[in-house]
This record gives sequence, structure tokens and C-alpha cells, in this order.
Amino acid sequence: MCGIIGILGDHQAAPIMVDALKRLEYRGYDSAGIATVHDGALDRRRAVGKLVNLADLLVTDPLPGFAGIGHTRWATHGGPSVANAHPHRAGRVAVVHNGIIENFRELRAELSGDGESETDTEVVARLCEAFLDAGMTPKDAAFATVDKLEGAYALCFLFDGEPDLLVAARAGSPLAIGHGAGEMFVGSDAIALGPLTDRLTYLEEGDRAVVTRSGAEIFDGEGHAVQREMTRIRIDAARIEKAGHRHFMAKEIHEQPQTLSDVLAAYVEGERIAPPSAYDFTATDRIQMVACGTAQIACSVAKYWFEALARLPVEVDIASEYRYREGPVGAQTTALFVSQSGETADTLAALRYAKGQARAILSVVNVETSSIARESDIALPIHAGVEVGVASTKAFVNQLAVLLALAISAGVQRGTIDAAREAELVAGLKRLPGLMAQALAVEDRCEALAARLAEATDILFLGRGPMYPMAHEGALKLKEISYIHAEAYASGELKHGPIALVDRTLPVVVFAPMDPLFDKTVSNMQEVMAREGKVLLVTDAEGAEVASDGVWEVLVMPKVEPVFAPILYAVPAQLLAYHTAVHKGTDVDQPRNLAKSVTVE
Ligand code: G6P
Repeated sequence: MCGIIGILGDHQAAPIMVDALKRLEYRGYDSAGIATVHDGALDRRRAVGKLVNLADLLVTDPLPGFAGIGHTRWATHGGPSVANAHPHRAGRVAVVHNGIIENFRELRAELSGDGESETDTEVVARLCEAFLDAGMTPKDAAFATVDKLEGAYALCFLFDGEPDLLVAARAGSPLAIGHGAGEMFVGSDAIALGPLTDRLTYLEEGDRAVVTRSGAEIFDGEGHAVQREMTRIRIDAARIEKAGHRHFMAKEIHEQPQTLSDVLAAYVEGERIAPPSAYDFTATDRIQMVACGTAQIACSVAKYWFEALARLPVEVDIASEYRYREGPVGAQTTALFVSQSGETADTLAALRYAKGQARAILSVVNVETSSIARESDIALPIHAGVEVGVASTKAFVNQLAVLLALAISAGVQRGTIDAAREAELVAGLKRLPGLMAQALAVEDRCEALAARLAEATDILFLGRGPMYPMAHEGALKLKEISYIHAEAYASGELKHGPIALVDRTLPVVVFAPMDPLFDKTVSNMQEVMAREGKVLLVTDAEGAEVASDGVWEVLVMPKVEPVFAPILYAVPAQLLAYHTAVHKGTDVDQPRNLAKSVTVE
């Protein structure tokens, strides 16, 4: 999603802003721009494509000034072009925006003259300029503008003739104020501001802030001055560097034994599961799990766990469907939202729909200061550290780990798991980081297979039980980063339609650890092979022993108790996608059209 930086400093702002935007690159973007006030005059530079294009432009056409705003854009209204890039300017005002202004057409119709872009954001600058024309001060003009906006936004305004003023506003998209020594900053997340200051104030819904070098005055949506807490943050710089890996995604895949062990340490105490915040699963009759993308797949795996281990029915929904379906939420229902960023607009809106209806709102998040965490009754952290690659890897695995720990805890409370079984499951969990490290050994085979997978135009993924959602994860990862069309089916569903696609050109990846469903999956594999489909079987040594005949390739995974298999089988799903993408030469960390955190509907 878009990234925002604002600076009132005592150095040239342009290079500092380009650096901050670079740290926001992980959000995915298609153009970038900055504006500054220098000798009282507002000016800007914008460029399409990677940030390096903006950096190049600034070499030939520098932009001096100690006060500035900067932006990386992920197109929503109007394609990537210089005219559509932020900052948008109208006369004396420049503005950067993350989110969507839903009533921009109505607002545009009220304004005289034409704009120069196709964006919703430009109307914000034009409206503000109209208020300045009417004689308002910059602060009043910005506030009056914000009053008229509907939709989701984080905004930062900069004004001609005002080298010591930024006005910021937040509704639906996060925004933080950074406090330096005689310098002040605005940023769309802690990563943007990390090296500049460790003291942040997060704006709350509806807040506006008037920022000068001497501090920030914050007002709520009604215009009352409010105090918001200042927090100290620690951004571990090492976690946002590639540490010798070619891509962040590769680094994050390899970090998984460590990050998995970090999260287990927070949820396991001796032989028992001990989540950081207790929740009573005995008084609930069902769980509604809601999320988007990879997080929704984690929920689909967790459904198998909660139903089998705790005998608790689970419904899984895609947030964008759930929020508008207006389905019933029983008073005894537990609503559980899973989101790495904690800011996904659809998931947040779904949470707000369930709030006040459900028995409790639980969330599983990576960012503990996020909106979803703050609006939940209980927020359960996944401790994955900063995830930069757009395609989620270590966050997905840690979401699974937290959901499995919760399912075990629910089973213990509900009497479906006794103390001996709990101890056994905990022992199994503790072995997982080690097994994960062993699972990474399939990397060489994945790399060798990549060349052949990269030739395919379509790839099918199959699985049964919890391996069915894992098939979805394999297909999602592959299409996200390699752009090869991939689909997932429950193995048993193959014969009801998708088998029509099978011919000698179709690779079919089958996730099938040796478990009680193995033989059934092998029968489905035979159906594929009988039609010359190329089966890539991902299984353990025992499975490979009995079912390798006639398959195209086998990836041999470490043996693990079936309940833990989804966590381990995430690794081949990730590595197949990663190496296929690397072979094709696509942009692994910032795949086209995608964004790390989607704060628009
Ligand atoms: C985007 C990302 C996905 C992610 C999804 C949900 O689409 O590209 O990788 O799974 O959002 O994000 P969340 O932050 O809510 O987990």
C-alpha cells in the first residue's frame, strides 16, 4: 500500500525522505514523489517505477529544503504515471495520501476548474487550496478539508511559505508522529521512522495533528485538543536487511526455524500451552474466523485443528465477503481475525461488524500496535518480526503456530485433550523448529525443479484434510510471485471437474504426508497419472517408499505427526514458488500489482 513520510528537520530533507521511502518499498508501489518548502517556496519531484528513478531524477534536478513530504504510491484511481503520483499539488498546498477518498467525485464536482490527474487525492489538495483562497489559515484549511472527506485516509499536508508546518490526519489508515531533537516527523509506520527517532505517537481514528519543529498538537475528530501516548519503539535494523540473501523472501523463509521457536516460547510453558492472554473456550459454541489472503488460508488450516482437537465448530470467511453478507453472529460466537499487518481494511471492517455482537473479538497479529490489535478484546501476537517480502512466509507459519496453540488450549479447556496428550502435543511443537530446519533441505530439489515448473502455464495443487488449505497456500504463493496460473483443489474433488484439465503439460503438486488419508490421496494421484499428468509428490520417506512409482518427481520431507504437517509443508510450498519465480526472473519481493498491506477495500 502507499507509504508516507513527512519531515521538519534541520538537514536537507530529500535524501532522508528517499531513504525512508526505500524502507517503505516493502509495501509495494508503482511511483514515488517528494515535495519540499525551500526559501519559502513549495516544489516537488515525482517519478514512475522504482524509487531509484526518483533518486536519479533528484541528481539531475535536485530539490533542496529542510521541510518535506514524500510518498510511494500503489495505484487505486488512475494508472501509474507522473501526473497521478503524489504529492498532489494545487497552488499553495501539496498533499500525500494513503487510502481512498470515497466521495471524491462529489467533491470534484463542487470545485471550479480542472485537475491534472485521475486520482481521488488531487481533490484534497484542490479543496484545501479553495479554503486558503477563502482566507483560511493553512491549519484551518486542512482541517476544513478533512471534515469534508469520506473514506479511508492517512494524509500529510505541506504549504507554500510554511517551512515549519505539517498537518496530518488519520481515518482508517495508520499514521504516526515521530519526535526528534528539534525535528519532527510523520510516517505511515514505525519502519519509515525507525532510524530517525524511537519516540512515536500513533494517531487514533479521526485524529488530526498540527506538527511544527517544537512539537505536535493533536485534535480528535470533534476538534478537541487531546493527548495521545508517546511510545518508544525498537526497530531491529537487522530484521529489515537481506542478511546476505538475494531476496527478503529467501531470508524470511530461512528465518523460520528461529521465528517459529520465538513464537512457541511465548505460547508454551513447560509441558503446557500458555497463551499470553487467556480466553475461555468453554463458554463459546463456535468460532468465526475472518481474514484475507494468506491469513485466510491459515484460518482454513486452523478449522481442521479446532474441530478435531477441541470439537469446536469453525466457520472461515474471506473478510470482504463476511463484512457485507450481514450474516448472524451469535452471542456465544467467538470472532477471530487473523492479520499480519493488523491494518487490512476488509479485515478491520469485518471486525467492526462483529464487535458488539460476538461473545469476544480475538485477533492474531504481527503488529501489536495495529488497528486490529487495538480494537480486539484479546490480541495474540505472532512474534514473526518485520516481514518485508510481499508474499507472506514466516508470518504465515507463525499464524499457524499460534492458531494450533489456541486449538490445543481450547481442547484442554473443553476436556477433549487430557494432560498426557497436551504434553505429547507440546513436545511435538517443541520439535518443530528443528524439523523446519531439516525441511529447508528440500531447497536444492526445489531449485532444480524450478526450471521445469517455470515452463508451465498452469499448475494444479492437491491435498486432503489440512493439506487442502496448504494446497491453496502453494497455489497462492506460486501465482503471486511467478505469475504462473495455479489452482488448488481438495484431492477428492479432482474427479468432479478439474480432472478435465489434466494432460501431459500439467504439473500437479500433491501435498501428502503419510497419514490416515494418504491412500485416498494416492488414488487421486493415480487418476492424474493415468491421464499423463506430471505428479510432483511432496511426502515423507514412508510415503515416498510406497507411492513413488510413476510420479514425475518426489520431494521428501521429514516425518512429523500429521497434526503438525501443515506447519512443515509450508516450506516446500514457499520454496517451489520462490525458485520458480527466481528462475523466471520476476520481482520476488515486490510482485507486480500486489501490496504488502492493503488498507483499501
Ligand atoms: C495482501 C498481501 C498478502 C496478505 C494479505 C492479508 O494481499 O499481499 O500477502 O496475506 O494482504 O494481509 P494481512 O496483513 O491482513 O495478513
